[in-house]
Formats: sequence, C-alpha cells, structure tokens
Amino acid sequence: MRITNIGSSDKASFYVACELYHQILNHPQSRLGLATGGTMVGMYGYLVDLLTKNKLDVTHIETFNLDEYKGLAPEHSASYNYYMHQILFDRYPYFNEANLHLPNGMAQDVTAESERYEQLLADRGPIDIQILGIGENGHIGFNEPGTPFDSVTHCVDLTESTIEANSRFFNNKNDVPRQAISMGLSSIMRAKRIILLAFGKHKKDAITKLVNGTISTDVPATILREHPNVDVYVDDEAMPDYINESSRV
Ligand code: PGA
Repeated sequence: MRITNIGSSDKASFYVACELYHQILNHPQSRLGLATGGTMVGMYGYLVDLLTKNKLDVTHIETFNLDEYKGLAPEHSASYNYYMHQILFDRYPYFNEANLHLPNGMAQDVTAESERYEQLLADRGPIDIQILGIGENGHIGFNEPGTPFDSVTHCVDLTESTIEANSRFFNNKNDVPRQAISMGLSSIMRAKRIILLAFGKHKKDAITKLVNGTISTDVPATILREHPNVDVYVDDEAMPDYINESSRV
C-alpha cells in the first residue's frame, strides 16, 4: 500500500481525476468501481472537466458503484443513483446508461438483489480501478466494523456512527435509511487497482489505523494492506503522525 500526502484535498482530487481520465483514454473499455460521499465531489468535478475538454468517448466504459441505500428510489435526492447522475453521468451525458451499475435499493428481495449484483461483478469484472472513501469507523463501501473479510455483496445494517455522519445529506437523522446494499470486502479486493481518498482531521484516526494498525475486521479497511496495488491519497489533516514502514509494502 502506498500512502501519499499530496498536500491538499484539491490537489488529490485533481490527481485522481487525472488517473481515471488516463485509464479511460488508454483503455476505453475499462470497468470502473465508483464511490459516492462528500470526499468525491471535487474529484468528479475535475473528471467532468477533463472528459469535456478532451471529448473522450465513454460509451464503452462500464461503472459499478459500491453501494446504495435500501428503500431509496433512484430519483430520491439522497440516493447514490441520484448522486452519480448529478455529479457525473448527467454532466458528461455520453455514458451508456446500460453500462452504469448500482445495486437496486428498491428491490423487494435484497438477498436476490445482492446475489444479482455480485454475479454481475463476477461476469463483467474484474474492476480495473476501484475508487474508495473511508468512514470514520474504518468502513469501506458500507462494510461496517465486524464485516467478514470474505464477504460478498450483501445487505448491511448501518452503524450509528455512519447514520450520524451521513445525516447531513438528509433533512434529519430519522430520514437516513437503516440499511443498504453494499459490495462486500472480497468483492472490493478483486479490483486490479484501488485508490482510496481521505480528507480532513475526522479521517485521521481511520487512516492511522489503516496504515499502522492490526489487520482486523474491527477496521474493515485494513484488509487493503493485503492487496498488491493500493494507493491512499490524503491531505495534511488526514495524514497520520507516523507511518510504519512495513505498511508501505
Ligand atoms: P464521505 O464518506 O466521503 O462522505 O466522508 C466516505 C465513506 O463513508 O466511505
């Protein structure tokens, strides 16, 4: 795992947008694993700029989002389907809608929907670049502490800390869904390359544990230390006070 403090969230956002841009340019049939959340807003903004200025063909790009809230329709303003359309797919409207995949939060049978999504990942994958944020509790996707490392796409009970952190996207905390469908940790680990972004002092503890802590399901992101190709980009505030050299391999 390589951790890089690139100086600011803005620089990191631009750098990672360039990485995605080059992936699309060099491999126009790439499969991209996409993340939502506040951390990603700047990165998608730069990506839209790069795609627009360079008129890149994205019709053969396939995207797979990490997760979706259970019970939120795509047109709900806090759904991740809505987020992705607002921030990327509608702003660069040349993606092929049939290639844009998210779990269906409205599925009646969440087990069947989780199995469908996992099968889709198996059939269409592996993902070339998986983008990740990280929760303050060390979650990736919605894989909360205690999630087994061998988990595949599944229905998740959100923890109180995640509900609290995400309540800013809803009118009030009671509106935050209590469950979501998320790619599992082993689904994420199958990606060929992983890029994780973390900004702000509220992420420092999770990044410190990710980089220096014991590999344990208590901090789900620590599984990434067992992946051969992970880049973590942080700003000054999220940068750990020290880096254990053994975690840089
Ligand atoms: P955030 O969420 O980007 O809104 O902080 C990240 C996450 O919970 O994975």
